[in-house]
Amino acid sequence: MFFSLRFLSLLFFVLKWQALAASVTSQTRPIPSPLSPLDSAHGVYSGSQTPTVFPWNTYNYCNAPHVNAAHYTLPPTKDVELVYMNVMIRHHKRTPDNLYPDENSLNPPAGWDCKDFLQFNFGSLASNTAENAQTYHETNIPSNHPFLSQIWNGTCDEGQLTAAGLEDSMQHGKDFASVYINKLKFLKGVDAIDVYVRTSTEDRTYQVAGALLYGMDETLSKKQFKIDSLVPSYSCPNADNIRDQYQSVPAWTDHLVQNQELQTRLSTLTGVLGMSAWSSWYDHFFDTFTSRTCHGHPLPCNATGACVSSADAVKVFGIGDFEYNYIWKAAQNASTYNSLTFGVMFQELADNFKSFKEGHETFKLRFYVGHDGSMIRLASGLNIQGPLRWPALGSEFVWRTQNQAYFVRVMHEGTPAVGLEWVSLDDFISLLESNAPEDIFEQCLGSS
Ligand SMILES: *[C@@H]1O[C@H](CO)[C@@H](O)[C@H](O)[C@H]1NC(C)=O
Ligand SMILES: *[C@@H]1O[C@H](CO)[C@@H](O)[C@H](O)[C@H]1NC(C)=O
Ligand SMILES: *[C@@H]1O[C@H](CO)[C@@H](O)[C@H](O)[C@H]1NC(C)=O
Repeated sequence: MFFSLRFLSLLFFVLKWQALAASVTSQTRPIPSPLSPLDSAHGVYSGSQTPTVFPWNTYNYCNAPHVNAAHYTLPPTKDVELVYMNVMIRHHKRTPDNLYPDENSLNPPAGWDCKDFLQFNFGSLASNTAENAQTYHETNIPSNHPFLSQIWNGTCDEGQLTAAGLEDSMQHGKDFASVYINKLKFLKGVDAIDVYVRTSTEDRTYQVAGALLYGMDETLSKKQFKIDSLVPSYSCPNADNIRDQYQSVPAWTDHLVQNQELQTRLSTLTGVLGMSAWSSWYDHFFDTFTSRTCHGHPLPCNATGACVSSADAVKVFGIGDFEYNYIWKAAQNASTYNSLTFGVMFQELADNFKSFKEGHETFKLRFYVGHDGSMIRLASGLNIQGPLRWPALGSEFVWRTQNQAYFVRVMHEGTPAVGLEWVSLDDFISLLESNAPEDIFEQCLGSS
């Protein structure tokens, strides 16, 4: 019952995560208006720009802080050289993944307009890439469509990257280049010999990957670049059972009971009363609220004019953080669930670093674009400290191997991750492998 479409589709990596950025600063700082009522020193949910009254690395759900030249510091150790990198990020802003049963009536008044974003998708014979029409698709919803009440107005797909998300991705690429290309000269530019890119099979992840690459190196607009995608999810019923169990105990169910009033209020307003997909956790409310607020749309209002309040939305954001932390980190057996559902990815990462150590790696940079489910599992498996939060859009991990007997420095949301500022390559490989059960196929599918 916990699977939303989003989770099924991700699969391979699921992670979202994030963490330290928000909690660090200034409870005392006065919050000047006008700020959106959705924003506080605890985090930003109203748009991609973090208001300048907050520290640069404040948790921003709409656009996570990431490595950039203005805030980059070299490792304290002298005379090190950056020799190899892996990066994983979450995709950037998108439309909601979940629809209300009566979606049309709860739509933003302006509708979802994606006319400013062209979703190219065309095949090509490898033997003749110059010949084909460059086609893109646009969603079109006829006003006499019999299912109109369940569909939104506009020209977007469910869960699609938006133009604003594409722009954030390009900026993310530019910021990446500002450090690793311009400042450290780790790469001269981007080419397929040095850089390997991998995404999930969702359109939005490879659209983000393309924009990142272009942000890093504009000469790519004239070139072709191959992006691999991971096969979606693998089935792991034993992991699902483990998660079902720890979501049946008071450590989980208490928060549903305590927030029953909120749940009833939101469900009545949005017409989802009695639907377990919406009441078994706050994921769907979180998704449908944040995709609106990140794009400057109001919170949902129904046909009678009743609207979700900012105060309730902020409660949902906090509960979302609690749920992500519980499911992927805090729950008893969460680490087992985590390693079963993300073990294949942890093994791939471990293999990358082993292959580098043994001198077989041919790439300098491996860049992965995934989902919140990828980022949260990664954060949990790497023992990122403190309670984990819902991985923000564009959330980022960077592993960088320095020589000098090979040390790894892990950057999370733009700053060194506590405890992983400087670990030996061997220890880092062991940490990754500790999340990759050897007999994962049997552990997922066997009856034990
Ligand atoms: C949404 O669709 C309905 C039904 O076609 C229409 O009456 C309404 O004007 C549309 N709203 C917007 C904002 O396009
Ligand atoms: C964790 O797993 C153990 C062993 O299977 C089980 O006994 C325990 O009840 C589980 N805990 C929760 C909270 O599900
Ligand atoms: C709109 O929300 C109000 C307040 O929650 C609720 O009483 C009403 O039933 C809702 N109407 C529709 C059409 O969903």
